Amino acid sequence: LHVAEAAEKPAKKTLPDAQTVTAVRHWTDSLFSFRVTRPASLRFRSGEFVMIGLPGDNGKPILRAYSIASPNWDDELEFYSIKVQDGPLTSRLQHIQPGDEIILRPKPVGTLVLDALLPGKRLWFLATGTGIAPFASLMRDPDTFERYEQVVMMHTCRTAAELNYGRELVENLKNDPLLSEIHGEDFAKRLLYYPTTTREESPIMGRITDNMASGKVFQDLGLPPITPENDRAMICGSLAFNVDVKAVLEGFGLREGANSEPREFVVEKAFVGEGI
Ligand code: FAD
Ligand code: A2P
Repeated sequence: LHVAEAAEKPAKKTLPDAQTVTAVRHWTDSLFSFRVTRPASLRFRSGEFVMIGLPGDNGKPILRAYSIASPNWDDELEFYSIKVQDGPLTSRLQHIQPGDEIILRPKPVGTLVLDALLPGKRLWFLATGTGIAPFASLMRDPDTFERYEQVVMMHTCRTAAELNYGRELVENLKNDPLLSEIHGEDFAKRLLYYPTTTREESPIMGRITDNMASGKVFQDLGLPPITPENDRAMICGSLAFNVDVKAVLEGFGLREGANSEPREFVVEKAFVGEGI
C-alpha cells in the first residue's frame, strides 16, 4: 500500500526557471524589495530588465517586466516592486517569503545601459517611483563612476516614505569603504542625490521637470546648467513623466539615443499605465 501511494503521488514539480527568494523588505503599504538567487548563467548589463513572475492558477505563468536593481557583480538579484492590490502579479508577489520560488526568465534587455550613451562628464539619473530600480543597479556599478566624473540621482515621489529605499541605498554607497578606495575619499561629491516629494512636505520639493526647467536643481547642487557637451541622462518613470522630461532635455539640446545609436540620453518606461 505504501509503495502504491508513493507511486501515485506526482513528484514535486520545480518551476522552470525557478529562483529562490533569499530576503524580503517592505518599505510602505505599496512598495517592497526582495532578493533572489541568481542563475549561474545569467549575465546582464547594469540597468537592464528581465521577466519575472509566479505560476498562475491555470499553470500558465504570470510574468511581468522588472528592472534588476542589483549591480551585475552581485551574487544575488534584487528587485524593487510596487504592490498593486488587484494586480495579477503583485497582488500575490507581495506575499513572498524567503525560501519561496519565483520564475525568472534569464534574458536581460533594456535601453538604460551605459553603452547607449556617448561619453560625457556628468550623468543624470531621472526617476519617479519604482523607476529608481535600474539606477539602484547602475549606482552600485563601479563602471558608472569610471565613465563619469559625477552622477546626479534625482528621484521624485508623492510622499517622503516612498523615497526611503533609494535614500538608504545612496547612504550605504557613500559610506562604502570599497567605493571610496576605488573612487577616492570624495565619493560623496561624485554621487549627488536630489530626492524630492510633490504631495508631502519634505526638505526639497517639486517635480523633476520643474526643478530642471527653473534651474533650481543646478542652484541647489552648485552645478552649471545642462549642456550637450557635458551632460548625459537616463529617464525612467511613467509615460507622462518620460515624455515631459524628454522635452526638457531636448530644450537643453540633448538628443535621445539607443543601444544601436548612442547619443546624449535614453528613456525607459517604469511601467505600462492604464489606457496606454
Ligand atoms: P499590472 O496589470 O501589470 O498593472 C496594473 C496597473 O498598475 C498598471 O496599469 C499601472 O497603472 C499600475 N502599475 C504597474 N506597475 C507600476 C509601477 N511599477 N509603479 C506604479 N504603478 C504601476 N514594476 C516594478 O514594481 N518594479 C520594476 O522594477 C519594474 N520594472 C519594469 C520595467 C519595464 C521595462 C516595464 C515595462 C515595467 C516594469 N514594471 C516594474 C512594471 C511591472 O512590469 C508590472 O506592471 C507590475 O509588477 C505590476 O504587475 P501586476 O500584474 O500586479 O499589475
Ligand atoms: P505630482 O504629485 O505633482 O503628480 P505618480 O504616482 O502619479 O506616477 O507620480 C509619481 C511622481 O512623479 C509624483 O511625485 C508626481 O508628481 C511625479 N510626476 C507625475 N507625472 C509627472 C510628469 N508628467 N512630469 C513630472 N513629474 C511627474
